[in-house]
Amino acid sequence: MANWTEIDQQVKTWIMEAGDSIRESFKHSLSIHTKSNPNDLVTNIDEETERFFISNIRKAYPGHSILGEEGQGDDLTSLKGIVWMIDPIDGTMNFVHQQRHFAISIGIYENGVGRLGYVYDVAHDELYYAERGNGAYMNGVRLPSLTEVRLEKALVAVNATWLVKNKYFDEKKLVDLAIRARGTRSYGSAAIELAYVASGRLDCYLSMRLSPWDFAAGKILVEEVGGIMTNLAGEELDLLKTNSIFAGAPVLHGQILNDFLVRK
Ligand code: IPD
Ligand code: CA
Ligand code: CA
Ligand code: CA
Repeated sequence: MANWTEIDQQVKTWIMEAGDSIRESFKHSLSIHTKSNPNDLVTNIDEETERFFISNIRKAYPGHSILGEEGQGDDLTSLKGIVWMIDPIDGTMNFVHQQRHFAISIGIYENGVGRLGYVYDVAHDELYYAERGNGAYMNGVRLPSLTEVRLEKALVAVNATWLVKNKYFDEKKLVDLAIRARGTRSYGSAAIELAYVASGRLDCYLSMRLSPWDFAAGKILVEEVGGIMTNLAGEELDLLKTNSIFAGAPVLHGQILNDFLVRK
């Protein structure tokens, strides 16, 4: 049986150490490369941070599996056992251009069930974390359960790709959604946006395409405060694949799904 209290203490220590190194890196120049396209960035710090976590996890928990964005983890084909899903820097573009609005994101799952989730907003020194069944916290303060708000009072966060024609939305409906909502936001870090949904800073978050390491920790946070996270068709997420994402409090989630997302 895993000792979740011990793992939790260990992860928090590693996250704080990694956060210090990342803040220290602001003093030095970055080595920046592109991946799938000219706007898909990765830096030496993304790679070093992933290496830091993976080498520590392998030493401390040799039986666990690891999925990491920068490819230093395992090739996962199943969620059996304990699986760490790591995004060393979520929001790399913000990290490179702004030195803020980026996070370390770590979700730990057991046989597909989320156990521990961490989103560390490095520049603001805000650690959001949740333990299944024991609530969600920000810097040690317990986050209250989500309260429902009407769409007219809701702050809706979207990935900016919603401006582009896509298979999920009827564009006109999307404009309606933006008009009906109190406001819209796009921060450029899915992990932070999900942590903001969990802490009530945002009322919901929609994204067309995220990888498991982008949302693994956020899902645990959102669910621990009574929120719902599905894909944009309202279906359960697959933690081994890319998914569209829609997170929020249950009533608002249902209303937006029904009125704006389901093609009729
Ligand atoms: C990205 C961020 C961004 C989301 C992208 C992700 P990265 O992660 O979460 O908000 O819109 O889809 O790839 O590449 O900066 O770790
Ligand atoms: Ca990336
Ligand atoms: Ca990411
Ligand atoms: Ca990343």
